Order: sequence, then C-alpha cells, then structure tokens
Amino acid sequence: MAIFTPRVVLASLLALPVALGLGTPKTCSNPTLSCSTSTSTDLCCVNSPGGQLLQTQFWDTSPSTGPSNHWTIHGLWPDHCDGTYDSNCDTARAYTNISDILKSFDKTDLLDYMNTYWLDEDGDNESFWEHEWGKHGTCISTLDPDCYTDYTPTQEVPDFFQKTVDLFKTLDSYTALANAGITPSSTKTYTSAAILAALKASFGYEVIIQCSSGALDEIWYSYDVRGSIQTGTFVPTDPDGSKSDCATSGVKYLPKSGGGTGTTTTATTTSPTSTPTGTPGTFSGTGYLNAITGGSQTGCLISAGTWYTSGTCATYTAAASGSGFTLKSSKGPCGISSSSFTCASGNTATVFTAVGGLLSYNGDTTFYAAAVPSGSTQEAISTSSQSISVSFQWQSL
Ligand SMILES: *[C@@H]1O[C@H](CO)[C@@H](O)[C@H](O)[C@H]1NC(C)=O
Ligand SMILES: *[C@@H]1O[C@H](CO)[C@@H](O)[C@H](O)[C@H]1NC(C)=O
Repeated sequence: MAIFTPRVVLASLLALPVALGLGTPKTCSNPTLSCSTSTSTDLCCVNSPGGQLLQTQFWDTSPSTGPSNHWTIHGLWPDHCDGTYDSNCDTARAYTNISDILKSFDKTDLLDYMNTYWLDEDGDNESFWEHEWGKHGTCISTLDPDCYTDYTPTQEVPDFFQKTVDLFKTLDSYTALANAGITPSSTKTYTSAAILAALKASFGYEVIIQCSSGALDEIWYSYDVRGSIQTGTFVPTDPDGSKSDCATSGVKYLPKSGGGTGTTTTATTTSPTSTPTGTPGTFSGTGYLNAITGGSQTGCLISAGTWYTSGTCATYTAAASGSGFTLKSSKGPCGISSSSFTCASGNTATVFTAVGGLLSYNGDTTFYAAAVPSGSTQEAISTSSQSISVSFQWQSL
C-alpha cells in the first residue's frame, strides 16, 4: 500500500505531456532503483550509467542572482554511482533554443519560474540552460527519444526542466538553514558541521556543500530514482561520490546584495519537513518583531526594544525611509546607538532594511543578546557580538 503514496504525489507534480497529445514515456512495470546492485538492461526504465541524480543549487553573491532569501537552481546532474559522470552525451540534441522549445510546449509558467530561480550570473539564462541541458540532460538515458511512444521532437526538454524545477521546489535550502539559525551575514561565520547538520535535518540525508573564496555557494542534494526520470520516484539518499569542499570552520554565508524587500514567495516553496517560524511579512504598517534563535521563534520585542519571552509583543510601526524603513513603538523611534537597539522618545530613528524577510542593520541580520530571556527578564539587543545570536522577523497585524 505504501507504494501508492509517492506515486500519487508524483503524478500531481508532473505536468504529463498526455494533455498536449504528445508522445508518452515508456511504461515501466516494477522498475528497479538506480544504483542498486540489480542491473536492468532497459535504460528507458532506469537511468544508467548516471544513476545518482543531483539537484544542485547556487547561492550567488558576486554578482547576486535571484531573491535575497532563496537559493537558485544550478541543475540536475546524472552522476555515476561513484561520483564520476559523463557529459555532453548527444551533441545532436544539444539544442540552442531551450526557451523556444519550452514555449512551443506551452510551458510559459515553467519559463517564468526559471527566469526567477534558474539564473545565470551574467544574465544569460538561455545559454546557461543550454549548457545544463547539453552537458548533463543529454546523459539521462530515460530521456532518450527512443524512450517515448510516438516521440514528438524535443519533448524530453520540457520533461527535464520541469522535473528539475519540481525537485527544487521541495528543497528550500534558505529556510532549512535559517531554521538552524544560519542566516546570511557579512560578519558571521559558521562551521561546515553546523551547515551540513541543518541541511541533513531538513533533507534526511547527507548533502554536499561547496565553497568559493571561503563562502558557501553551492548545495548538492542526491537521489536514486526508481524508474524513469519522467515518471519514476526520486528517492533521497546519501551522496555516492563527491564530498564537500568547504573549510571545517570560518565558513561565510554572505548576504545577496540588492535584495531587501523580503517580498519573495517563500510560501510556495517551503520544505515540507521544515519547522515553520511564522509567515514572514514585509516591514510595513504595524506588526510584531518576532525573535528567532536556535532555529525557532522565541518571544518578541517589547516597546523599549528589549527581548521578552513571556508577555505581549509590542506593536511596531514600520515606515518607508530612504532605501529601507524606520521602526517606532509606543515608547518612540527605534535606533541603534553605541551598538544598542532601543526605542525611546528622543531617539534618532535608524534606517533598517530587510534581507531575506529578516530585520537587517548595515546588511546584517544577526543581532545579539547576553542570554535568551526567560520569566520576567528582558534582554537588551546589541549589534556587537555576544553569546546569543538572534534575528527578527516581521509579523504584520
Ligand atoms: C529547436 O531546435 C531544433 C533543432 O535545432 C529544431 O528541430 C526545433 O524545431 C526548434 N524548436 C523550436 C520551437 O524552435
Ligand atoms: C535572466 O533572468 C533575470 C531574472 O529574471 C533577468 O533579469 C535577465 O534579464 C535574464 N536574462 C536574459 C538574457 O533573459
């Protein structure tokens, strides 16, 4: 019985070509799991030799691409079951018109999504997609034209891009990290172990992280697939091959520049296994400033700007100002002075920004306190390093 659950979910995720009167992927009965010891000779029903599929993601900060609170897509790579891989497997199908192909199959929603989350650093998205398709996509055996009944030329292209996007939507790396208190910062660093543990807690298996110039910039999630890429079941697994290349400690996770609106659509892509920390709102109108520490919401700010865990949250008013916004409570304007966050009459209001839906001061979403408050204790909030890191999320009223 259990076998039906993933299939039902999968059917609803896949935009089956049947609706457009296209050829259909070959039907596979009792398909084997890729990279399992049993060998299948039908390469339309199990991807081989590229049996381990990696959904790879980017965190681009130089230049920044995509929403400031979301990772972006690198690709879907068929690795051999030992980490090696083939590339550029069919030059005859290395199409140079990916956008046109997707449009010709009525995939404009997919194309829009890709133009938000599957981005080239230099802005040449089409070339990047051609590269990913030609280098990796053509090496997926189940996407071979022979694997379709009544094949319509190029129909494997929307299948490849749709599958990659569908997987990516289940892998919200930003939230997985934020739930463990790992948020972008221009000053803070993290250990590889903490990053890997946060991602494993969300995905269920080890992942691979990659760094560039000491900063986290890629995450690779591994799957074996039971059946074809098009209609089979993706089964999360540990990586067979590549290993993480980040330093043990001192790993930077830099903020993306140019973000700061916090208006991106995290709601549609929340990882099913992540712990909700409330719906992040944009900083406008009136709202609460909820405190997030150690991966979960813990109290909020009260009117003087202090952190409290056992009372009523203060109502703050956010007003657009310059390139960001100011905050005030019933006590007065909120400002940072000598590293302290306070709200009081006579304060000069500080202009804050939002980065990834979190309150940010000078591009940094990490604030500090001497302790997590408990009982009737209030803790002062500081921008200089103390034992407890805390971030603030806006809850609109
Ligand atoms: C894309 O290119 C391929 C081959 O280069 C061609 O056969 C196909 O008709 C093109 N598709 C569209 C929609 O332009
Ligand atoms: C790639 O996508 C980004 C984001 O939508 C956009 O700003 C850029 O113009 C796109 N580049 C091309 C060449 O379409």
